Amino acid sequence: MDDVFDPATRGLDRKFLEDVWRGLSAPQKTLPCEYLYDETGSNLFEQITELPEYYPTRTEIGILTNHAAEIAAALGPNIVLVEYGAGASTKTRILLDALTDPAGYIPIDVSEDFLLQTADQLRAEYPGLPVTPMVGNFMADLQLPSDVTGKAVGFFPGSTLGNLSDDEIHRFMRQARHLLGADGRFVLGIDLRKSPDILVPAYDDAAGVTADFNLNLLTRINRDLNANFDRAGFAHRALWNDSASRIEMHLLSLKDQSVEIAGRQFDFSEGETIHTENSRKFDLDQLRQHFTAAGWALELKWLDPSAYFAVLLLRAAD
Ligand code: AVJ
Repeated sequence: MDDVFDPATRGLDRKFLEDVWRGLSAPQKTLPCEYLYDETGSNLFEQITELPEYYPTRTEIGILTNHAAEIAAALGPNIVLVEYGAGASTKTRILLDALTDPAGYIPIDVSEDFLLQTADQLRAEYPGLPVTPMVGNFMADLQLPSDVTGKAVGFFPGSTLGNLSDDEIHRFMRQARHLLGADGRFVLGIDLRKSPDILVPAYDDAAGVTADFNLNLLTRINRDLNANFDRAGFAHRALWNDSASRIEMHLLSLKDQSVEIAGRQFDFSEGETIHTENSRKFDLDQLRQHFTAAGWALELKWLDPSAYFAVLLLRAAD
């Protein structure tokens, strides 16, 4: 960028600013979904997981609880659990409680504060379990600590894979294959395709919590990037994109308006949207091809009775 010395941008998070400027300069305006999770956003997401319409969290916890013994038996003893994103301690505990002699827990997260907090909690609850947090982006080329002795098992719950594009899934699964090694296994939570009558309300709840979660992104940009979004000038929209098999979250501009972000102006016309998140809903046969291409084989799978959600166990292949 040519304006590093511009006083309007001094002291701001450059990466965030550049991502926002770039996203809002595209013909279809977008904002990266990772920015939904500031402190307010993370708290709102916790509330979302408890909404009656939001089935994924409770369905996945149900699968893990009902099949914990089978999952543990398939994994065997001496497991080092490597969790991508340290936000799901409820699910982690279900696995750790079921495993025979777990040899370690390695949470990976970009947010250092949150990561160290989770690590301390787990250490207190599982005395004797070596907990080794790793700060980093899970798309980065990470390496396990050299003193890890158990069998590495990745854990990526919550269907967060659904935020990624095909290309990103491929890169992520390859990185994970590299990190977890030739004997690596991987436990993944995957949200499955189902009727839009169930999907749309899960992302547009009656209490308006998901709307708050989406609109909070504008509040965050106002606060962190010296912007002047009028929150009331935008509305939350969740729509089912059938051909892409995904829920899309958008912020719909309710009027023609201009917004200034760190000294740059962006124009919005009435009816125009900012695309803020994709949440893909997977078909297992299609997903399997992704796994194969990235060096993984599907070993076992567990579904809830309605087939809303799947927990998959993958094994490293060639
Ligand atoms: C945390 C990405 C799995 O896609 O269901 C929930 C995020 N967005 N409601 C999802 C989310 C709106 C959630 N993930």
